[in-house]
Amino acid sequence: MSYSVLIVEDEPVLARNMLLYLERHGIACQLAASGEEGLALLEAARPDAVVLDHNLPGQDGLSVLRRMREREPQLPVVMATGHGSEQVAVEAMKAGAFDYLIKPVSLHQLKQVLDRSVQQQRQAQELRHLRAGGGIGHVPAAQGLAALLGTSPAMRQLQGRLRQLVDAEERLSEGHTPAVLIGGETGTGKELVARALHFEGPRRAGPFVEINCASLPSQLVESELFGHERGAFTDARERRIGLVEAAHGGTLFLDEVGELELATQAKLLRLLEDHQVRRLGSVREQKVDVRVLAATNRPLEAMVAAGQFRSDLFYRLGMLRIELPPLREREGDVAVLAAAFLARSARRYGKPEMRFSDEALQALSRHRWPGNVRELGNLVEQCVILASDTVIEADDLPLPVMPDGALGDPAALGTEPWPTSLPDTERRLLVNALERNRWNVTQAARALGISRDTLRYRIDKFGLR
Ligand SMILES: Nc1ncnc2c1ncn2[C@@H]1O[C@H](COP(=O)(O)OP(=O)(O)OP(=O)(O)O)[C@@H](O)[C@H]1O
Ligand SMILES: [Mg+2]
Repeated sequence: MSYSVLIVEDEPVLARNMLLYLERHGIACQLAASGEEGLALLEAARPDAVVLDHNLPGQDGLSVLRRMREREPQLPVVMATGHGSEQVAVEAMKAGAFDYLIKPVSLHQLKQVLDRSVQQQRQAQELRHLRAGGGIGHVPAAQGLAALLGTSPAMRQLQGRLRQLVDAEERLSEGHTPAVLIGGETGTGKELVARALHFEGPRRAGPFVEINCASLPSQLVESELFGHERGAFTDARERRIGLVEAAHGGTLFLDEVGELELATQAKLLRLLEDHQVRRLGSVREQKVDVRVLAATNRPLEAMVAAGQFRSDLFYRLGMLRIELPPLREREGDVAVLAAAFLARSARRYGKPEMRFSDEALQALSRHRWPGNVRELGNLVEQCVILASDTVIEADDLPLPVMPDGALGDPAALGTEPWPTSLPDTERRLLVNALERNRWNVTQAARALGISRDTLRYRIDKFGLR
């Protein structure tokens, strides 16, 4: 991806350092040593993104940021702030910065943030173009509603529902945007839906911050989410703002929300009820404006009944609900998705003429897809890589002989008597699925109909291995 960047930085060594690094990666750079110079260059240089130092001579970075936002509201600005000035970072995010970096700036990270900012900005532009009636091109926008392929009645209904949600949100004149809980089996597109809601909605210019609740132990989840004051716990050498605060003005996406521990659930509830957060080790509450989206492939109702999930949080998260149907219940979508994935992979691997035979398409439609759309996408990609011919036949498809998951299959539990407690049963199922898949976590997760992260979390929880 090629683009241009304006670097507003008064420290000449750092400025040159950034310039050399970015130019070596094919990014065109312009330097400005003050805010005034930066503003002047904005018109002349027409950059795709800006790196803006906070501590500048004359006008400080925040006021330069505000003036840039007034003149070029779509232009992503990445703020660089000094050590220990997290408050500035929060202010910068409030003022519409795309992101912030704490000095000393890691050049690799700088490039990553810039890449992301330009990519998002281009996608947003594409969406605005689509909405303005530009029509849908052959490459669907990666993050909007257009990314959700499928023509089955179930998908059409879902697309309509999402459109309604976005429209309602656009019209919302006061109060907080209600949370949306996105349910559905693994690989059905929950994350895609979350992105679509953010990038099509009125918060699209704000940050989209996602956190996977399954991948972190509870202590870390809390400091990740809420930030911490210096000395809040042994490793907390510096004050840090949390992801919730970083999502201010945008969306916080809580993925795998069913894995949250009860203590963290209580803190989240406060965010949803009062729209406030408190950093670990702080006495002060902080107001935040975030839209919460949550996703899970777990039956939250049942978890509420079993006392594993707070009912009040469940109610708050699920003010609005979106349920993604499993792929096997979307009539005709396998063919549509297979064709789209084939076109994409064929382009990527430089094999443009590829197609499925009728028998292959029929075999794909008969499969039960326990890993849903993700499984289909992976399978198609594998076919394209391995194909020696332009036509993919039924025999070429790497479909398993036993496609159904181990869950619901009593034989999966072996011949021993059923364990009596739920944890024991679960443990047995997990071990069984792992053994049957030679401890391949991805395959075992698919057989169990859960995500890889969820399985990893449960492997740790039960101390398996
Ligand atoms: N309707 C769709 N059209 C096109 N691609 C889709 C669709 N649904 C899902 N995908 C693709 O399938 C893959 C899995 O989707 P996603 O990550 O959103 O699933 P998920 O429901 O979050 O799964 P998990 O519960 O395992 O996290 C992604 O690569 C996504 O782009
Ligand atoms: Mg997901």
